[in-house]
Amino acid sequence: MKKLEAIIRPFKLEEVKEALAELGVEGMTLCEVKGFGHGTEHTEIYRDSPYKVGFLPRFKVEVVLPDEQIEEALQVIMQAARTGRSGDGKVFITPVEQVIRIRTEETGVAAI
Ligand SMILES: Nc1ncnc2c1ncn2[C@@H]1O[C@H](COP(=O)(O)OP(=O)(O)OP(=O)(O)O)[C@@H](O)[C@H]1O
Ligand SMILES: [Mg+2]
Repeated sequence: MKKLEAIIRPFKLEEVKEALAELGVEGMTLCEVKGFGHGTEHTEIYRDSPYKVGFLPRFKVEVVLPDEQIEEALQVIMQAARTGRSGDGKVFITPVEQVIRIRTEETGVAAI
């Protein structure tokens, strides 16, 4: 199992959510976050000088999936979240050791 954390533009949330739902993804977590990357999208002009506006609002979508679904999920997220402009976001993929459904105590892929 792996966790896919996608940092996306807030207005792309519905598209990303729909794309994952079409793959049959049934659970996810959404966090409202703030961040910045290495691009120039957070530089603005104030009194003729550029200044860094710092943290911009983004959404983090977290989804844990069986290994064999990760590649497909990654592709649909990238397609749904991309505008082609600096600041489109990033995806982090990490291994997940265990998942437990609290209600039933099921574990592993059965608990996803
Ligand atoms: N190295 C990182 N670690 C953690 N979060 C990051 C990292 N890089 C980017 N982010 C998160 O992703 C959001 C969007 O980053 P962004 O798309 O601007 O990355 P970038 O590397 O600057 O790419 P681009 O050149 O397309 O702008 C940031 O606001 C931040 O929340
Ligand atoms: Mg950037």
